[in-house]
Amino acid sequence: MQNTFRISMRKGLLVAGVVLLAAIMSLGLVLQAGGRVEAAGLTSAEKSWLTTLREEEKLARDVYLVLYEKWQKPIFSNIAASEQRHMDAVKALLVKYGVGDPAAGKGIGEFSNPAFRDLFVRLTAQGSTSLTEALKVGVFIEETDIEDLNAALAVATRPDIKRVYGNLLQGSYNHLDAFEASLAKD
Ligand SMILES: [Fe+2]
Repeated sequence: MQNTFRISMRKGLLVAGVVLLAAIMSLGLVLQAGGRVEAAGLTSAEKSWLTTLREEEKLARDVYLVLYEKWQKPIFSNIAASEQRHMDAVKALLVKYGVGDPAAGKGIGEFSNPAFRDLFVRLTAQGSTSLTEALKVGVFIEETDIEDLNAALAVATRPDIKRVYGNLLQGSYNHLDAFEASLAKD
């Protein structure tokens, strides 16, 4: 009688364990499904801008790193570090919404979008001719970023995406001011 009781206790524990495991697994599936629902909720314009802006911030970072190597002016290394943070902010959105990262595994000057590769070659060449040209390259990059961030903001529907783009826009205005002030002194 006692043995039968013990066996049924063990069976009960086993069943409880299986039920708990199944519950944990199904919770995981629900969470995963939640992530997919979010990804599906982005418009194609939003996805496309996330992909473009990830590489546009990378273009800025990569060009400024090259120009820092050339001219050894802290303005380029400081702003390159800021562009890295901008890249990271866009990457976090790509991950959150399940959009592929175009910058994955790409070194300095490497891009998925050939237009950015061409710009990298052109802008680093221009910026290597003189410090003034390097600062003008900075102005050009920041003005382009501001234009594109405004275009991206115009079609953004998600509050978190709008918030990140707003921060990036503010950063670009600060960088533009810094390059213009430096040009005026140069
Ligand atoms: Fe910038």
